[in-house]
Amino acid sequence: MEIKIRYLITLFLFSFPIASVSLVNNGFRAELSHVDSKSNLTQTELLYRAATRTKHRLSRIKRMQLFSSTNITSNMHSEVPTLGEYYMDLAIGTPPLLYSAIADTGSDLIWTQCTPCKKCVSQPTPIYNPSKSSTVSSIPCNSTVYIDLCSVDNPPPSCFCSYNYTYGTGWTSGTLDKETFTFGTSKSVSVPNITFGCSTSTSDDFNGSAGLVGLGRGELSLTSQLNTSMFSYCLTSFFDTNSTSPLLLGPLAKFSGTTVKSTQFVKNPSMVPTNTYYYLSLQGISLGTNNLAIQPAAFALQSDGTGGFIIDSGTTFTLLVNEAYIAVKSAIESIVTLPVADGSTVGFDLCYFVGSSSSPRSMPNLIFHFDSADMVLPEDNYMVFVNQDLWCLTIFSSDISLSIFGNFQQQNFHILYDVDKEVLSFTPANCATI
Ligand SMILES: *[C@@H]1O[C@H](CO)[C@@H](O)[C@H](O)[C@H]1NC(C)=O
Ligand SMILES: *[C@@H]1O[C@H](CO)[C@@H](O)[C@H](O)[C@H]1NC(C)=O
Ligand SMILES: *[C@@H]1O[C@H](CO)[C@@H](O)[C@H](O)[C@H]1NC(C)=O
Ligand SMILES: *[C@@H]1O[C@H](CO)[C@@H](O)[C@H](O)[C@H]1NC(C)=O
Ligand SMILES: *[C@@H]1O[C@H](CO)[C@@H](O)[C@H](O)[C@H]1NC(C)=O
Ligand SMILES: *[C@@H]1O[C@H](CO)[C@@H](O)[C@H](O)[C@H]1NC(C)=O
Ligand SMILES: *[C@@H]1O[C@H](CO)[C@@H](O)[C@H](O)[C@H]1NC(C)=O
Ligand SMILES: *[C@@H]1O[C@H](CO)[C@@H](O)[C@H](O)[C@H]1NC(C)=O
Repeated sequence: MEIKIRYLITLFLFSFPIASVSLVNNGFRAELSHVDSKSNLTQTELLYRAATRTKHRLSRIKRMQLFSSTNITSNMHSEVPTLGEYYMDLAIGTPPLLYSAIADTGSDLIWTQCTPCKKCVSQPTPIYNPSKSSTVSSIPCNSTVYIDLCSVDNPPPSCFCSYNYTYGTGWTSGTLDKETFTFGTSKSVSVPNITFGCSTSTSDDFNGSAGLVGLGRGELSLTSQLNTSMFSYCLTSFFDTNSTSPLLLGPLAKFSGTTVKSTQFVKNPSMVPTNTYYYLSLQGISLGTNNLAIQPAAFALQSDGTGGFIIDSGTTFTLLVNEAYIAVKSAIESIVTLPVADGSTVGFDLCYFVGSSSSPRSMPNLIFHFDSADMVLPEDNYMVFVNQDLWCLTIFSSDISLSIFGNFQQQNFHILYDVDKEVLSFTPANCATI
């Protein structure tokens, strides 16, 4: 009952913009850099770390699914997995303080660490100090907009909104405030009164990062607050540590051409008040002309909100429900004749031993059949040389009912999220030249 009332209130409030933003008529461009881009790691190390992050993300999502399958809907949309793969540069306050934050399509809140810290993690740039900024303002507890995050019954007059936003195992906690943020690489744009989490306690999961920018579908995400109807990104090759990847917001994000394919987002029926995740309708997978035997129900969203297939910037390697993973694995095994190797030491499941005398066959495309749009992945988007001997599949089994399309599989595609039209579009691209 309480849930229903909350849902109605939120729907009602949704008809009003939460921040009046006179932004960004043309949009802006930000650069995304890979978490490990400055780390001078070998290819083997890069892949091992990426595999480990993928497994961590999965274990967080598992916790989240436990919550949702038992119908604990209070703050349910906050129970999202943490830690990302790509950082974006931005600045907060007046005068602007530059920092980098994880860009994450799998969550909503924008937050950065704030002094005075109760428990801050280490970050590469100075921590934002609200008392040194002339544009920060607090949000009172009786603000009717952020009911889910700052819920206090009968708040006293000088009560300001505090929050604890949890991501499975990680969390950030502090006050919800408003500030001017500055975005954009060459041409920057400043936007006043963006609601953000001023985090005075941050869990160790975020050690090393100054915060996060949520790009999900919820009301607090950057895209929702900027009222931009679309954004796009184009991730350069995973091993290209030299170039950054563009993130485009607003009309700049748009692209067209004969190779562009589009598919509708799907709504999760149980998410209250909004979806955070970008669900897609995946109808099947083929390896070349081999249409794999996978029940379409394997990727379907259930009425209790479990299952489904999402696209996510923060998960590295695609995770498929076990039935689909087994089908992909068997299809590869049926055409590759190299000796199978133990991939577990390098973080992978299916690997082949490529001796100096042999070389792997060239592989057919792996095709994801989305509703009215086939995404054709060349070999480099799903097979990889972990070292000179081992050649491995960069897809894992998700041992839960949710499947996730990871960013390794998205490399060298320009991907547009049209939030207004509820459409995802994509086209192969040389991302370093966009
Ligand atoms: C948000 O965008 C919609 C349509 O694009 C427009 O009608 C509305 O005025 C915008 N609101 C603000 C606050 O900019
Ligand atoms: C990067 O790693 C290579 C090989 O391990 C090493 O030779 C080189 O000095 C390193 N460069 C930096 C800047 O650390
Ligand atoms: C969750 O709630 C829905 C509707 O309120 C109900 O149909 C469903 O059975 C519940 N699921 C669980 C696991 O309790
Ligand atoms: C919130 O409380 C302040 C004073 O404590 C009052 O002036 C204001 O009208 C209240 N706002 C709402 C939306 O109730
Ligand atoms: C925030 O919530 C998490 C999960 O419930 C909890 O472990 C953590 O201690 C909370 N943080 C603060 C500062 O209350
Ligand atoms: C931002 O919020 C502050 C405090 O609520 C208000 O005084 C100011 O007018 C707002 N600025 C804009 C541009 O909306
Ligand atoms: C956080 O990272 C710093 C350096 O990046 C390291 O010295 C410190 O031990 C880390 N702390 C935790 C709790 O992992
Ligand atoms: C990276 O950039 C540097 C300097 O711009 C260049 O010398 C180097 O060859 C580039 N490396 C790769 C792998 O493109």
